[in-house]
Amino acid sequence: MGWAALLAVAAVLAPAAAWAPSAEEELQFKAWMLQNNRRYGPGEYPRRLRIFLGNKRQIDEHNAGNHSFQMSLNQFSDLTFAEFKKLYLWREPQNCSATKGNFLRSSGPYPDSIDWRKKGNYVTPVKNQGPCGSCWTFSTTGCLESAIAIATGKLLSLAEQQLVDCAQAFNNHGCSGGLPSQAFEYILYNKGLMGEDAYPYRAENGTCKFQPEKAVAFVKDVINITQYDENGMVEAVGKHNPVSFAFEVTGDFMHYRKGVYSNPRCEHTPDKVNHAVLAVGYGEENGTPYWIVKNSWGPLWGMDG
Ligand SMILES: *[C@@H]1O[C@H](CO)[C@@H](O)[C@H](O)[C@H]1NC(C)=O
Ligand SMILES: *[C@@H]1O[C@H](CO)[C@@H](O)[C@H](O)[C@H]1NC(C)=O
Ligand SMILES: *[C@@H]1O[C@H](CO)[C@@H](O)[C@H](O)[C@H]1NC(C)=O
Ligand SMILES: *[C@@H]1O[C@H](CO)[C@@H](O)[C@H](O)[C@H]1NC(C)=O
Repeated sequence: MGWAALLAVAAVLAPAAAWAPSAEEELQFKAWMLQNNRRYGPGEYPRRLRIFLGNKRQIDEHNAGNHSFQMSLNQFSDLTFAEFKKLYLWREPQNCSATKGNFLRSSGPYPDSIDWRKKGNYVTPVKNQGPCGSCWTFSTTGCLESAIAIATGKLLSLAEQQLVDCAQAFNNHGCSGGLPSQAFEYILYNKGLMGEDAYPYRAENGTCKFQPEKAVAFVKDVINITQYDENGMVEAVGKHNPVSFAFEVTGDFMHYRKGVYSNPRCEHTPDKVNHAVLAVGYGEENGTPYWIVKNSWGPLWGMDG
């Protein structure tokens, strides 16, 4: 009993004693708090300050090195990666199910680069999923919004919340995760998705309020690209429309600011992916091919979202 108590006290005291922020560091943190609308209780403040400074050190060290992308402070800078994961990524393991494709490669050429944002009014503004693991719904609506706009010339904003609330029968879990492939199957069999206005996003689990007469978007056919067939994905984006895909977010991605992101340590098996996004184009910089990706963490994150 005595030993346990002593050890606990030592464990609490040691890091605090070794850590003293400078006045300048505190000023930086307070400016960041103001900019990001954060307030903490007295117990929370020192912990958040410590995490913030740890993140800042990681960002500064990265930016001093020779990398293809830069990091910066952003709205996530007071979170550890473990906290970030819990709030924004899939909480339940998702086994990517669309691993066998029915995408038929054609022989025709496809462009060296494409950016659907610049080809016309085909991509809705970047949205913000908030603290809910619903990236899969934004990846899905983004893809369907663009496919409809390219086919009809009409750019609609579609309802992520309907997918959060109603798509469970297709192995989706609302704010705890899901997969775009399974969301498309839901829209196909449900016969429609409502618009953002009629079914607004709330960033939390809710009960299904789908009204068939208000459906504005429909799925005729879903095409899966085989896992690892990145050339198939290039062809699909280059010749057809933006494509939903998933990957593994690791600790550095939460601080991404600009440039060509790359991380050789990312896992790449279907059971390790934890975030779904939308490929809206691709190109090449100094011989390095890259994807242009629409994320759902708001327009202030990364390069305009
Ligand atoms: C930075 O990295 C690039 C690509 O790896 C390399 O070609 C270049 O020589 C490096 N520059 C410096 C200053 O190390
Ligand atoms: C994912 O699916 C593969 C292949 O069907 C299976 O071997 C693996 O155990 C699954 N993993 C999880 C976490 O469900
Ligand atoms: C695409 O993948 C989904 C999810 O696994 C599956 O339900 C659907 O049948 C697949 N579609 C085709 C046409 O293969
Ligand atoms: C949201 O609902 C799904 C089932 O519909 C459930 O699996 C999941 O745990 C819920 N998540 C949260 C954060 O409440």
